[in-house]
Amino acid sequence: MFRRSLTLAGRGLAASRSRTLSSLSFLSEDHAKVYDHSTNDPERFWGDLARERIDWHQPFNTAMNCDMNAGKIRWFEGGKLNVCENVVDRHARLDPNRIAFIWEKDEPGDVERVSYGDLLESACRIGNALRARGIQRGDRVAIYMPVSPLAAASMLACARIGAVHSVVFAGFSAEALRNRIRDAEAKAVITADEGVRGGKRIPLKSIVDAALDDGACPTVGDVFVMTRTGSDVKMMHPRDVKLEEAMSEQPPTCPAESMDSEDLLYLLYTSGSTGRPKGIAHTQAGYLLYTGVTHQNAFDVRSGDIFACVADIGWITGHSHALYGPLFNGVTSVLFESVPTYPNPGRYWEMVQRLRVTQIYTAPTALRLLIKSGDSHVRKYDRSSLRILGCVGEPLNVEAWHWYHTVVGERRCTVVDTWWQTETGGIMLSPRPAPTGTQPKPGFPMLPFPGIRPLLVDSNGAEIVGNDVSGLLCIRGAWPGMARTIYGDHERFLNTYFRPYPGLYFTGDGAYRDVDGHYRITGRVDDVINVKGHRLGTAEVESALDEHPDVAEAAVVGFPHEVYGEGIYAYVILKDTFAPAGTMDDIVKSMKGIVKSKIGSFAVPEIVLVTPGLPKTRSGKIMRRILRKVAANQTDDLGDVSTLADPAVVEEIKSRHVELMKEREYAYGRKE
Ligand code: WTA
Repeated sequence: MFRRSLTLAGRGLAASRSRTLSSLSFLSEDHAKVYDHSTNDPERFWGDLARERIDWHQPFNTAMNCDMNAGKIRWFEGGKLNVCENVVDRHARLDPNRIAFIWEKDEPGDVERVSYGDLLESACRIGNALRARGIQRGDRVAIYMPVSPLAAASMLACARIGAVHSVVFAGFSAEALRNRIRDAEAKAVITADEGVRGGKRIPLKSIVDAALDDGACPTVGDVFVMTRTGSDVKMMHPRDVKLEEAMSEQPPTCPAESMDSEDLLYLLYTSGSTGRPKGIAHTQAGYLLYTGVTHQNAFDVRSGDIFACVADIGWITGHSHALYGPLFNGVTSVLFESVPTYPNPGRYWEMVQRLRVTQIYTAPTALRLLIKSGDSHVRKYDRSSLRILGCVGEPLNVEAWHWYHTVVGERRCTVVDTWWQTETGGIMLSPRPAPTGTQPKPGFPMLPFPGIRPLLVDSNGAEIVGNDVSGLLCIRGAWPGMARTIYGDHERFLNTYFRPYPGLYFTGDGAYRDVDGHYRITGRVDDVINVKGHRLGTAEVESALDEHPDVAEAAVVGFPHEVYGEGIYAYVILKDTFAPAGTMDDIVKSMKGIVKSKIGSFAVPEIVLVTPGLPKTRSGKIMRRILRKVAANQTDDLGDVSTLADPAVVEEIKSRHVELMKEREYAYGRKE
């Protein structure tokens, strides 16, 4: 790659455009050489790729200007480009009829195809509609929509006019949405009348109304409402406007803003170890290049592929692999509106057969759920179109790996377990590309992508060298896709990622490096948990529970869950003034209800244990280690509890836990 890049660099874009995708891949190259070059001379490596792969309005001066000690990350400074042009116009120009999206709606077989030409027109019309209502370069626009071509076109419209999109997963509650709108000071919201998932309707417009209620978000002047179900929704004039009507009033072309490489492209809120979600900020050129190149190489993307990333566009996986990655590479992306078990657990594979999907990208939790339903749901469909089986979000356990490989992939497809984060922008560790002959290893994302230098450190920050070792996973050196800041809180950005181990990016994950130098992720080392493939801060759940009128204090931990990866376990102390207004079941139900309304139903604790106290040190710090062990049923192995202010509370918690587990077993037994 690098030899060719060097020769191509001066020849301009005409040469690069005529290349086929596969000739731009790392997979046919000598991997060791590519990797060595990428890490020895990242500036050259990424600079050549940026010249080769991106259409620039104005070339950049400096490829790389990064100081990891200071958390200052700048790529391709001086360059000007437009991301929408790079992912849509360039393909529409060559072949406007090429299919950009296949929208697989909630009902199987209810499909719409959107060409690159159509997508360009939609993005332009929305861009014009936004501009007509005063949205300008740099303004933030919140998007709270179902997975759909118009949601994607809305994101691209923002990119086209230089506005910053902030997509909020359409499963978040009104309050969570409000907090994100306020933090981003969004000027407009784009939503839909309703969402539809797994046969159920979600009243998105009413949720937006509740979020904006009582002037809670004074920056929002406009709400655009896409019609998904056509149900009657309340429209408030002049704030609200139907998206399709606003589009029809606008011309089908829209001049693209010339953006600086380091201007913001989007914000995406994610959970950290404190209560307040972080607006992770990504910029234009670096994100585009890194996402496009990793998407192509991790999944061996070739012209004509039909790539199905089934993640919601409200998460980073949807941003990078349903939208920006596949479109940068000019392939067809399946936008999946439904859930893996609707109307039955054969949904993915029936869709694979019908749409001739070449790569599928899902989460371990979905696989584990499908494993439980038996192999017949898979085997009855033709999966011969599949080449790559991708996975992300949490550790892919060995059993699920084998099932994916043998049952789904008939031992023919490569399983690509990718490790990355909202903050990294694109895939960091993955079995592909790999040196020739390297076989994927169950449970291991395995290898760094070119340009990525992972390392393990101990809690003092000393590097752990050699193999067959475990430690905290850090990254040395910058890469173009990394986040640039936390919106409005650069200090928090530095404190979270750069200051813990100076000179390094700290991931928050632990990892094991085996005898072959391959990485396996052991899980988060902070108070973040991965539940059903969703990332959640335990502190967020705690602060929701704290708002319940009967709760004095709450402590939330994750526990190993055979389907969800991790489950949510809440320990709750009730107020002294608490006077029961119902059974304990009712109270627990109302606590769960408050989490649902403050965050969303995916954050509701599976287990709530009411306790008279929590294990605290004499200085008042909750010893979460003990709570995690109890939740994991490891009550014989609690370690030293002598430093606790009140060691007796541990016995009480243990016995209540055992009782609760018995009740649950009984309840489940009864259900079956
Ligand atoms: C976890 C998702 C094990 C990890 C793209 C990380 C994984 C967090 C894997 C980021 C994997 C992601 N194996 N764990 N292959 N992929 N994770 O920001 O804990 O939603 O830090 O990004 O998911 O979650 P996020």
